[in-house]
This record gives sequence, structure tokens and C-alpha cells, in this order.
Amino acid sequence: MKHFLKETDFGPREAAEIFAMAREFKRSRGRASNGVLAGQTWAMVFSKSSTRTRVSFEVGIHELGGHPLFLNKNDIQLGRGETIEDTARVLSRFVHGLVVRTFEHADVERLAAAGGVPVINALTDFLHPCQIYTDAFTAAERWAGPGEDLVAALRGRKIAYVGDTCFNMANSWILGASLFGMKIALAGPKGFEPAAAIRSQLKTERRKAEYQFTMDPFEAVADADIVYTDVWTSMGQEEEAKRRAAKLGRYAVTAKLFAAAKKDALFMHCLPAHPGEEVEQAVLDNPRSVIFDEAENRLHVQKAIMARLAAAAKA
Ligand code: CP
Ligand code: NVA
Repeated sequence: MKHFLKETDFGPREAAEIFAMAREFKRSRGRASNGVLAGQTWAMVFSKSSTRTRVSFEVGIHELGGHPLFLNKNDIQLGRGETIEDTARVLSRFVHGLVVRTFEHADVERLAAAGGVPVINALTDFLHPCQIYTDAFTAAERWAGPGEDLVAALRGRKIAYVGDTCFNMANSWILGASLFGMKIALAGPKGFEPAAAIRSQLKTERRKAEYQFTMDPFEAVADADIVYTDVWTSMGQEEEAKRRAAKLGRYAVTAKLFAAAKKDALFMHCLPAHPGEEVEQAVLDNPRSVIFDEAENRLHVQKAIMARLAAAAKA
């Protein structure tokens, strides 16, 4: 069974096909997608809050002709201790796919291993692959020439990731950069170096997987095509918020820092943002900020991912 738990679950050629399908879905909003999930129900099991992911998947499943079934973890027996394996086995008897947002990455792996339907990682503490595919698509849309392959347009480009460099978004971009042939420089404080889990994941990857880590945000953004940041306090870290803000204060994306990247660099953020913390409002409002295109494109890219997984499940 084919799943999408991490960026490299698809190779660059498959990613290019997904991007091409997403471009078509976007161009013909609603029409090209009719019927791909006809007669199917996809369950969305969420243990964390969500605006973009929840809405884009619910709308996307509907637009593909399927029925989305949203299940808050605490509304089902999983929240009262039913095992992940039994939950996967039971849900697989009813639905055709699972979209899962949770804390431990191992939990999505266990669901995928025990169930009999495709599983999509809709964010764990370790990775957020739907977001990275969408961000890469969003940049490629701007960079690709007419008729040019969207993934090819990413090759050799540089992303600077500034701020919390050892959580899901940074990890996912490290893996995404390897998949898309991009360079990545991460800037964060001492103690925020990419963690052991992502380093050992990189060792298992077939493609070259290198990153640069620096404590100097200006060094990271030099020659960057994308400047990226995320919140300093992720879901589940609320008690550490003060301590984290004190450490990360130097790593805010200010207008001055953004101006030190390439002249035509894009600003990206997965959202939700905290203006005045990890990013200045002026940067969010900059004409080269593509934050709302990223949000919209979640819909088109995830529809393509689901279509691909549904086709693989039928084959
Ligand atoms: N970017 C993202 O995943 O947003 P939500 O938490 O609102 O889904
Ligand atoms: N790092 C953030 C991303 C939210 C989309 C979090 O995990 O809360």
C-alpha cells in the first residue's frame, strides 16, 4: 500500500507528475477533478488544531467526489486508549483513506502499517510533507517557464530557513530540499541544530542530502531564493513559549533580513503566523510574500496527492 508520510515517499519524477496534476486542478478548479474519489469516504483523524489542513482536505475530498469524515481524536475511542493498530484496522473496514495529524511521527507509521488503506501525514512533530510539497509547488509556479516541468524549476535554488530549525517544518524542508535538488541553509540559535532523527533519516535517503546550519541569519539568507520561517512555539510546546522566544529573538525575519536575500526572493511561511514575533508585518505584506498562495495551493496539491494514492490503491 502506498502512503504519503514523508517527502521522499515519492521520487522527483512522481512529484513532478503530482505537481502537473495540481496545476491542472488549479487551472480548471473543480472540473478536472470530478469523480477521482467517487463513492469513497476518507477519514481525517486529528489530534491537533488546524485551519488550512482541515479545510483544504475536507474541500479537496469533496471536490474529488468523495466524502470527508472528520474525527477529532477525543471524539473517538482512540482518545480513550484504544490502540492505534485497532483504530487503523477498524477504520480501514469503512473508509478508503486516512489523513492524520498527530504528535508522534511513529503513530502515523503504525497506522499505515496496521491499516489497509493509504495514509497521509497531515503534520506530526517530525514532518509536515503536505506543506512542503505545496510550498515547493508555489515557488515553482512562479519560476517555471511556459511548459517547463515544475520540479525542474526548483533544481539548484536556495532556501534559507530562519528560526526554529529543529522541528517539523525545518525537518521537512531539509528532506524536501534533498528531493527537489535544492540547497538549504538553516539559521537558528545554539542548541537548535537539526536533531538526530532527521540526520538519521537523511542517511537512509538515496539522494544527496546536505544542509548548512549557521547561527548567523544574514549568512543563511545570502543568495537565497526563498526566505522561510515558522512560529517559535509549535503546537504542544506552549509551556516553553517564553524560553523559546528569548532564544529565538535574534532570528525574526525583519525587513532588513529579507532585503539581504536575492532581490527577487520569495518570503514563505506555512501559517499561522505571529506578526511581530518570528516575522515582521512588513515582510508578511511584502509583494514578494506568497503566504496566501501557499495556503490556497494546499487544496490543489493535496487533491493531486490523494488522486495519486487512490489510483495506486486501485492498481
Ligand atoms: N499550515 C498549516 O498546516 O496550517 P493549519 O495548522 O491551520 O492546518
Ligand atoms: N510548526 C508548527 C506548524 C503549524 C502548521 C506546529 O507544529 O505547530
